Amino acid sequence: MNILVTGSRGQLGSELQERSVLCDNHRFFFYDLPDLDITDRYQVESLCRDHDIEVIVNCAAYTAVDKAETDTVLAFKVNRDGPAVLAECAKVRNALLLHLSTDYVFDGTSSTPYRESDPVAPLGVYGRSKWEGEERIRQIAPSYLIIRTSWLYSIYGVNFVKTMLRLGSERPELRVVVDQIGTPTWAADLAAAIMSIIDQHDRDSSYAATFHYSNEGVASWYDFARAVMELGGLPCQVLPIESAEYPQIAPRPKYSIMNKSSIKKEWAIDIPCWRDSLVAMIQHLPKG
Ligand SMILES: NC(=O)c1ccc[n+]([C@@H]2O[C@H](COP(=O)([O-])OP(=O)(O)OC[C@H]3O[C@@H](n4cnc5c(N)ncnc54)[C@H](OP(=O)(O)O)[C@@H]3O)[C@@H](O)[C@H]2O)c1
Repeated sequence: MNILVTGSRGQLGSELQERSVLCDNHRFFFYDLPDLDITDRYQVESLCRDHDIEVIVNCAAYTAVDKAETDTVLAFKVNRDGPAVLAECAKVRNALLLHLSTDYVFDGTSSTPYRESDPVAPLGVYGRSKWEGEERIRQIAPSYLIIRTSWLYSIYGVNFVKTMLRLGSERPELRVVVDQIGTPTWAADLAAAIMSIIDQHDRDSSYAATFHYSNEGVASWYDFARAVMELGGLPCQVLPIESAEYPQIAPRPKYSIMNKSSIKKEWAIDIPCWRDSLVAMIQHLPKG
């Protein structure tokens, strides 16, 4: 199959690129800005035509959660209008669109893990723009799979783990929020799950489904930071604080644990525990 991966220089796109080297039954085409802007219909259509694309994996997104609060126009352009362009293109080509979304579509007031069918209520611009992107895809694409994920980190890009490792080597003490609960997700695990879904999907069927994927288990940002320090061998002390003591521009859900039983059952995916994956990620980091 010919597969286009957008946003290929981001965390997930880079993990997919690394994994694609081991996969010789598909042809992957990796693109990011400036060579492919997902909001540019002409660019998307001509590239899909030139490479005879059958599956689009959309890893492109505007992911700066706080900046999105003021950079609203661009956030909606990339996260809502971009997926609509990809969905139109998938429709023309009868291709499958596999799109990534976020736990930030929820408001965090649940006390049980969010199911795919639970009502959404995004708290900020990023979450709203991602939700509207999902909805455009549902309206337009004849065949789509939407995967919502959470707290993504990778050896690539800028993320919580890499920031904690840097700060932990510079400071004796760090204060980290303890009252936001979720599940960290190693982008390499998500990339493996996506590869497995691509391998298993039946190209003669059409799909219209939303799934949740994160690693297994539950953590606060404080738990996560402590684990990073411990596994990174850093003596930095992590102290718990409440969200009110660490004001951020965009509001975040206090609870964003997702129920993953659908993706596990439908696609026979084994999901590692977040802490085991963190160990593996830290081992993968370039030394020095
Ligand atoms: N990161 C998280 O914690 C998290 C949590 C939940 C869900 N997600 C979702 O998971 C997916 C992958 O996230 P990620 O962390 O891998 O994102 P990322 O590292 O921010 O990568 C996104 C990539 O998309 C590119 N991009 C931005 N605008 C574009 C456009 N108009 N056309 C084409 N490419 C464009 C970015 O380029 P520039 O860097 O040049 O802008 C970047 O290379 C996204 O859908 C995200 O919303 C992420």
